[in-house]
Amino acid sequence: TIRAALFDLDGVVCFTDHYHYLAWKEMADAQGWDFNETINHQLRGIPREASLEVILNHNGVTLDPQKKQELAHLKNERYKELLQQIDSDALYPGIVEFITALRERGVKIALGSSSKNAGAILDKLSLTVLFDAVVTGNDIEKPKPDPEIFLKGAELLGIHPFNCVVFEDAESGVEAGLQGGMKVVGVGTPATLPNAPTVVRDYQKDIDLDTLLQIGKPAR
Ligand code: BG6
Ligand code: MG
Repeated sequence: TIRAALFDLDGVVCFTDHYHYLAWKEMADAQGWDFNETINHQLRGIPREASLEVILNHNGVTLDPQKKQELAHLKNERYKELLQQIDSDALYPGIVEFITALRERGVKIALGSSSKNAGAILDKLSLTVLFDAVVTGNDIEKPKPDPEIFLKGAELLGIHPFNCVVFEDAESGVEAGLQGGMKVVGVGTPATLPNAPTVVRDYQKDIDLDTLLQIGKPAR
């Protein structure tokens, strides 16, 4: 039985993944680097420094550590600027209703987001009250695909990983959930998340709560 649900933030709870994309795209255009949705997909779930490395590698560009730090910082400043305009329109449709339905079933809810801005985003979107535990990029040592972030969330909730389900739009996040021994639901398509056991696009239409929570299944 599933007793806890752990959610990634960007691209799962809200569309802030688009603002990450915009911030990197602006920088890439200014620097004359190639950047597109395919490369962007590889950045999902990974911190800003590692994201920059992926973009640099893709373009065959080498920079000294100080320049890299500067650019990663600049991207984050631009991202935070873009975040100022977000409101409830940035919420993934049906997400609040879905989390509320889980809570009504007694399922504990945690956030597991690599983003160091996650706390501010939850506050801005008035979502903090929906989460029993919040683990962000500020609380972990090993980024996704390491399972640390989700294991920490499960521990804070006091639920065994075996009884947890992870919702993720990142390949690195799907891997982290699986490595943690959790059930994983990809948010996206089978093409973008080939390692996800199941994928959904719509929290209402694509999910049957009893099936998800593995209720009513004969005990083995
Ligand atoms: C994650 C996003 O949630 O946050 C990544 O999926 C992004 O795309 C990361 O890079 C941002 O983390 P940081 O290190 O900039 O706070
Ligand atoms: Mg994400």
